[in-house]
Amino acid sequence: MCGIVGYIGPKQATPFLIEGLKKLEYRGYDSAGIAVFDGEKINVDKSVGRLSILEKKVEQHPVAGQVGIGHTRWATHGRPSDANSHPHTDCTGKFVVVHNGIIENYLHLKEKLIAKGHVFKSETDTEVVAHLVEEYYQGNFEEAVKRVLSEIEGSYALVFLTEHEPDKIICSKQDNPLVIGLGEGENYIASDIPAIISRTRKTYILSDGEMAVLTRDSVWVMNRQGVPVNKKVFEVHWDAEAAEKGGYEHFMIKEIYEQPKAIRETMTGRLAKDDSAVLFDELKWTEDDVAAIHKIVVVACGTAYHAGMVGKYYIEQLARIPVEVDVASEFRYRSPLVDENTLAIVISQSGETLDTLAALKEAKRLGARTLAITNVVGSSIAREADQVVYTWAGPEIAVASTKAYTTQLVALLLLSLYLAGLKGAINPDRLKELIHGMKELPGQAHELLEDVQPIKAFAQQYGFCEDVFFIGRALDYAVALEGSLKLKEISYIHAEAYAAGELKHGTLALIIEGVPVIALATQRDVYEKILSNIKEVKARDAVVIGVAMKGDDAIAKYVDHTILIPATDKFLSPVLTVIPLQLLAYYAAITRGADVDKPRNLAKSVTVE
Ligand code: G6P
Repeated sequence: MCGIVGYIGPKQATPFLIEGLKKLEYRGYDSAGIAVFDGEKINVDKSVGRLSILEKKVEQHPVAGQVGIGHTRWATHGRPSDANSHPHTDCTGKFVVVHNGIIENYLHLKEKLIAKGHVFKSETDTEVVAHLVEEYYQGNFEEAVKRVLSEIEGSYALVFLTEHEPDKIICSKQDNPLVIGLGEGENYIASDIPAIISRTRKTYILSDGEMAVLTRDSVWVMNRQGVPVNKKVFEVHWDAEAAEKGGYEHFMIKEIYEQPKAIRETMTGRLAKDDSAVLFDELKWTEDDVAAIHKIVVVACGTAYHAGMVGKYYIEQLARIPVEVDVASEFRYRSPLVDENTLAIVISQSGETLDTLAALKEAKRLGARTLAITNVVGSSIAREADQVVYTWAGPEIAVASTKAYTTQLVALLLLSLYLAGLKGAINPDRLKELIHGMKELPGQAHELLEDVQPIKAFAQQYGFCEDVFFIGRALDYAVALEGSLKLKEISYIHAEAYAAGELKHGTLALIIEGVPVIALATQRDVYEKILSNIKEVKARDAVVIGVAMKGDDAIAKYVDHTILIPATDKFLSPVLTVIPLQLLAYYAAITRGADVDKPRNLAKSVTVE
């Protein structure tokens, strides 16, 4: 995720660009930059680090100009650095572009452009767009941009500016947001409403496939073929704080709703079009590399540790490699049995958790190969690990992790299938079936989020209970762990998760009349077993909420309430099963009046031991 702004009008552009970027820092903040046309040429100022560094730079060398574009970056392709910061320019410096998204076919385009003599200055996917527009410009900016848009594949919000026609800014979007702010004799562009709300409340919200040409006095919206689109003005009524959360009450619920997109982006470019293979350009492992892995240790903290628990099932069952999962703070103090035939996988949303970083260093010291699964490009853990698989969830702000978890599951599943493919441990038809199923996940997650009313009602009904138990078997047990963590960390209800078969060895003593038990029953292999565990708790008068898959007509007979997730493969169900549990925790916290985004005693990133 990145943030984009643009201005054209009679005022100085820089103050708005900086002010707008500040409002978009929540979308990423590892580097920032602006490009302003000074009447003769375009001046680009950019810098790695927080926006304040750029702000100082422009204060020291101000550029007067009334048209400009800006960007705050959350690195995807290419580590955070001055060169990789946006805006990006072509060879002549006369075309500039800022981008939010991923250009999937950039390598292919880059090769073609290099063959034609273009010289690249960064490692980003975005820079190809600047060179392409240079390549296609023949005196008509709009036509050149249209041609660029017809060549690029992937997701984007793009804004273009050129010295050749400085009286206009052109923008377009596909799968990433872009809003146009309509002023009097001036117009604005931004990734999100908070950036423009202090200047105007009249907006056009661009739809996928639309392109807009902005001048001081006009905004023309058209489709990519140039056919005009009649846009309705969207008047913003939110206050500035609500606008930052996209109109949602909290970052947590916003991030829950971002999951379909985050899941899709994490798979982007990593699944063969014909479903036959998982592609990991960043790993490029051979059969021999995989044969040399005798054991995998997964190390992480908190929610990431719970993702690791799911990962153990994935890797062992799909790739048939033994896996140990450990919390990072335990791992390094237990003289772990790790050697050069061990692959250590560390999982961390922030890439900065100190315990996880220290465990990674310990695994390296012991000779293990290391791989990080993280959401933050250029983070300490990403830099320390031998190799990195990024989750493309975008910045996660709420302390309670949601979209990071589901994307970590997706990354682990991709990795397991990649290992399984290289080991020949999976039958090609089964691989195809799973990849096909993965491609359905974003749509299914979206479907789950469409009707949250019943979950809200359960949360209101049981929000004041003192204890809640989560039970499940196999993958459902691993998800139960995350469900219970979500509930306790934000609603402060005491919650515990149990492997359902283990309940009778002690905890069953706590099941008394009216205690809510959330029973996850999505795993067909152990379905009969979980039903008998449900009967055990029902016999003690617990109230049972069963979470099962659509098409399961039996479950309702055994439980008090049912939540159905879309039907999917047993390996894919954790990605969906956790969503109602996140919602349950969220609405329970709301019912109890808790501070959802900043739960007591907790921090988003724990950089102390
Ligand atoms: C903190 C957060 C948790 C998170 C854990 C690990 O405790 O409150 O939500 O799961 O750190 O964070 P990481 O960034 O390493 O995934």
